[in-house]
Amino acid sequence: IKYTAIVLAAGQGKRMKAGRNKQFMMINRQPLIIHTLSAFEKDEWCEEIVLVTNSKERAEMEELLRMNSFHKSIRLVDGGKERQDSVFAGLQAIENTEIPVLIHDGARPFIKQQSLHELARQADEKEAALLAVRVTDTIKQKRNDGLTTLDRNHLWAAQTPQAFAYALIYRAHQEAKESGYYGTDDASLVERSGRDVAIVEGSYDNIKLTTPEDLHKAEAFVKKQQQMEGS
Ligand code: CTP
Ligand code: MG
Repeated sequence: IKYTAIVLAAGQGKRMKAGRNKQFMMINRQPLIIHTLSAFEKDEWCEEIVLVTNSKERAEMEELLRMNSFHKSIRLVDGGKERQDSVFAGLQAIENTEIPVLIHDGARPFIKQQSLHELARQADEKEAALLAVRVTDTIKQKRNDGLTTLDRNHLWAAQTPQAFAYALIYRAHQEAKESGYYGTDDASLVERSGRDVAIVEGSYDNIKLTTPEDLHKAEAFVKKQQQMEGS
């Protein structure tokens, strides 16, 4: 199964407090975004990568791509104000609308090929799927009428990639835009239309680098991987 990847890198990384977009931060001698792009570069199922960037960082991103000499087609697209706007910009740039699209945060460098393939399969079969892990904490819900405990057996923490048939996710984004709705992930836009989204169980390693503490976790993880590969 072939798919297109949209990789999102047009945020500001404010919570990382690195003074600049976290995508350019080094993790063991490589910028974060290069780690993430490499996962798709290595995956034969990935036909093309649409990399969504901030227009002001486009030149720097192009230079990074040149230095890392990727073989796969990586197309740069300017992002928007919110993550959802950036995804829509990416969707509009895709030419091959016959294959599924995997939408992924540039800030999640540890995505496994096995997950990419399972998502592509599920999107091919069911049109919508997301990567998620079971929640390990007990989750409380606080409302005005008091506190309740949610049943952990039914709770999942959503990750990316999220994978869809192109027409389905394009329509969901178009409808969200028309009604001014902003969701916190792409699957939520599909859920709004009453459609089911399949869950692919992922790994707790697939963290999103969000705060400075995550950087230490990421560096430790990369070192562990390198040791396992004997490099
Ligand atoms: N993103 C994007 N366009 C935006 C906002 C976010 O492409 N307008 C991307 C980010 O680059 C990131 C992913 O969406 O890879 C997930 O967002 P998040 O972790 O929130 O990253 P930032 O928005 O960059 O960080 P922050 O919210 O701390 O500013
Ligand atoms: Mg953000």
